[in-house]
Amino acid sequence: MTSDSTSAPLPRVAVHLTAGEAEQAMRADALAGLTSSPKTLPPKWLYDDRGSALFDDITRLPEYYPTRAEREILATYGVVIAKASGATSLVELGAGTCDKTRVLLDAMQAAGTLEQYVGFDISEATLRDALASLASQYRDTEILGVVGDFEHHIDRLPSGGPRLVAFLGGTIGNLLPHERARFFASVAGMLQPGDGLLLGADIVKDPERIVAAYDDAAGVTSDFNRNVLLALNHRLDADFDHDAFEHVARWDTDNEWIEMRLRAIAAQQVTIGGLGLTVDFAAGEELRTEISAKFRREGLEAELAAAGFEPFDWWTDRAGDFALTMAFL
Ligand code: AVJ
Repeated sequence: MTSDSTSAPLPRVAVHLTAGEAEQAMRADALAGLTSSPKTLPPKWLYDDRGSALFDDITRLPEYYPTRAEREILATYGVVIAKASGATSLVELGAGTCDKTRVLLDAMQAAGTLEQYVGFDISEATLRDALASLASQYRDTEILGVVGDFEHHIDRLPSGGPRLVAFLGGTIGNLLPHERARFFASVAGMLQPGDGLLLGADIVKDPERIVAAYDDAAGVTSDFNRNVLLALNHRLDADFDHDAFEHVARWDTDNEWIEMRLRAIAAQQVTIGGLGLTVDFAAGEELRTEISAKFRREGLEAELAAAGFEPFDWWTDRAGDFALTMAFL
């Protein structure tokens, strides 16, 4: 795709989560999570500017296979997916830098169906940058943005369609089973019969490879995980010493998910100024910062069916490490 030198108009972006509201939400999450036992924090707060950049580095690590595997699937089956979807509008949840989006947009363009792209993300700055770049590349496509939290603002998506909602990267695995059920139901609630959901999901495999993907030799995932403490320092005026915590990645055999935790190396007390709260950590105490569930076809299709979706197909990379599944309402 070529673009001329005149700049495209900046895409319209509807903001349903302002910086102030995001800070409010983080405050509530930190208060609930740091006063519960065991301590937890929701993974969404891992993605401030530095965290997003660190995740970008993770996608290039030799141990972290999901991103490469998903890109391989999109490159191989993108046109098949675009045609089968019958969609004129692509809605991407957690669009981020819109990296893999281009592969899907190109496929829809090749199928001759592309009319509209809607990017949905929690980070306004990242989304605006990514959409501006898409707008200059896809001149004949309406490019829109929505800033929100996919657990709360799915109902704010603009109408249009027929639509394909893409939720890529395996982020669905960050939700607990009951949160996934609620999420699938909310997506079903905003779609019309015949609309599609394209979901990226990591597949259950040798736990050693999964642990390595979340505990890389270069320590990037450790920096990514511990960065959430710096985000709390910055946004909520906390005084975490992020070097006093070590990164832990633990495979949970029963639940078939990997957990990222932060383990206090020594006993310590942390003050979260913005909450007027002090929190004690015992030596060795762990704070859970993320689960990343891995899936089997039957299980995921059953979850989709429970929300009213009809599973259509399931594509994997050649190694069988990662899957894209498409289902229709
Ligand atoms: C971006 C949510 C898909 O769960 O694999 C990477 C985040 N965490 N390494 C994942 C992550 C640790 C990633 N997702």
